[in-house]
Amino acid sequence: MNLSADQLAAAVAETAAVIRAGWREHPHAAIVLGTGLGSLAEHIVIEAEWNYRDLPHFARSTADGHRGRLLAGRLADVPILAMDGRFHAYEGYSFSQITFPIRVFAELGVSFLILSNASGGLNPTLRSGDILLIDDHINLMGSRVGQVFNLPSSDGQVENLPHELFYDPRLMSLAERIASEQHIPLRRGTYIAMLGPNYETRAEYRWLRTLGDVVGMSTVPEVLAAGELGLPVIAFSMVTNIFRPDDAQQTTSEEVINAAGNAEPNLRRLVTRLLTECSSNSPLAPRPTPLP
Ligand code: HPA
Repeated sequence: MNLSADQLAAAVAETAAVIRAGWREHPHAAIVLGTGLGSLAEHIVIEAEWNYRDLPHFARSTADGHRGRLLAGRLADVPILAMDGRFHAYEGYSFSQITFPIRVFAELGVSFLILSNASGGLNPTLRSGDILLIDDHINLMGSRVGQVFNLPSSDGQVENLPHELFYDPRLMSLAERIASEQHIPLRRGTYIAMLGPNYETRAEYRWLRTLGDVVGMSTVPEVLAAGELGLPVIAFSMVTNIFRPDDAQQTTSEEVINAAGNAEPNLRRLVTRLLTECSSNSPLAPRPTPLP
């Protein structure tokens, strides 16, 4: 997807129109359900849904544990859109394709974005099933930032990121308060994004351990796009496997999907409360509907 700014805006408007035609509600938030967290979708009262293949300009989900449908409906009575399955760079998608849905959500007027993913724990104090609130990231996916921001080729220019926009502090404090009230352990930390699709070698894990708390293969493109669009974002990482330097065992995708599924109830409680509190909390209360 290599579009001019006008072409991209037209494509976003076209997809948003298809969604509006099938669902007249104004979504308060959009949620991206990552690996193994698709079961959260079972708790959404679905009012409309689309296979990604039926949405113009959307890519297709090909990764394990990702269904590939957009849901519109209510979670805890709050109108939301949810991506049941996301797009990854390791599936061969460009950052522009991965982040296209985020542009559509912004066009539809969501007030904020909730991202979730599965990750490998690097910090030795983490346990499988822990939830980490991502408060910063290291982007080792290697994609040019200009691709996310849909900038023309930079001709060697350094591109400035709107850095103060990543990981909304209001949403993070709210999530931490809810977690402590609900007795859900919630840690903060740095997410390292690798291109994948392979899990890391032991030497890579050892190296990454010096850089951050968890490692995964997603989320950063969506966060960068949300930053560009001025959309507040909160990102939860479900730790599904733990790196131990002396353990020769390889991580498998079954292990990751099962661990994410087991830990899903806590994340669901957290996300549900966050939505209800935000729908009554002024800074993140619903934005006015952009179009009829
Ligand atoms: N590495 C990268 N991505 C992951 C991992 C991991 O160990 N676990 C879940 N997603």
